[in-house]
Amino acid sequence: MLSWEKIDAIPGWFLFQSYCIWRALLDQQTGTPGDLFEIGVWRGRSASVLANYRKGDEKLYLCDLRLDEGAVRTAIQSTGIAPAHLVGLSGPSADLPGKLDLKAMHQSVRWFHIDGEHTGTAVYRELELANQVVNPQGIVVIDDFFSPRYPANTTEVIRYMEKNPFHFRLLAVGFNKGYLCRPEALPKYMDFMASGMPAALTHYGAKTTIFKTTGPWDTDAVGITKYVPDAGPISGTDHDPQRWHMMRTRHVWGPKRHLLNTIRVLKAVVGR
Ligand SMILES: C[S@@+](CC[C@H](N)C(=O)[O-])C[C@H]1O[C@@H](n2cnc3c(N)ncnc32)[C@H](O)[C@@H]1O
Repeated sequence: MLSWEKIDAIPGWFLFQSYCIWRALLDQQTGTPGDLFEIGVWRGRSASVLANYRKGDEKLYLCDLRLDEGAVRTAIQSTGIAPAHLVGLSGPSADLPGKLDLKAMHQSVRWFHIDGEHTGTAVYRELELANQVVNPQGIVVIDDFFSPRYPANTTEVIRYMEKNPFHFRLLAVGFNKGYLCRPEALPKYMDFMASGMPAALTHYGAKTTIFKTTGPWDTDAVGITKYVPDAGPISGTDHDPQRWHMMRTRHVWGPKRHLLNTIRVLKAVVGR
């Protein structure tokens, strides 16, 4: 069974809180089939978490400048599972479009972790690649998001989203990572942030506060921090901390409108 102790024994940079956030979000994807993809593998610390969430025929794509597949296999094995369906891609991520069958991979990936070069140019290109392969329920994770060490890593992700507003939206920021999802999946994931995420993080052992300090009219993302006692496990805007402003669909038809529509649909079927 996957545990933090097993992941923590693998060399790398992946934090405990990220492990908890990943597990909470990957658990949400149990009904969503899809491959998993990582750029920047090192010795396989975060990749081993993904390997534990791979099911059936799903593939785990692993790209690194110099991929040490032996070390990654050993890491995955140390978590108690056999490495399977790995697709090793040794070399710079810039070469990936020439190595992969992108047509066949269209909307086939549900998790895409970008943790490689951390330059603006690379992360922008990696997002272009992610857009070609990530499915409608997919999540893209950007490492070192808002890290002062790699300013371009953040500015270019934001530039990408501004230039392509229908590709990805920012869902969450926390513990050095940014989480993006497809715009149409944002209401669903945001609902989960409000309803299931605090309990899921507690379940995996992370003591956190989830802040939503703005609303859907703005960058509708949450921020996840270490637990802030004054704020509690979940908090809204500074002036209205007990409330989250959410994007939700609303039922607008009355019974008569439903009836009229049913008649319209039946007429169309009979007339065919
Ligand atoms: C911070 S480490 C990855 C950490 C890893 N995800 C973990 O869980 O510990 C960054 C990795 O990115 C790789 N890398 C750097 N530039 C790259 C590029 N242009 N394309 C692919 N991989 C790259 C490095 O070789 C290094 O192994």
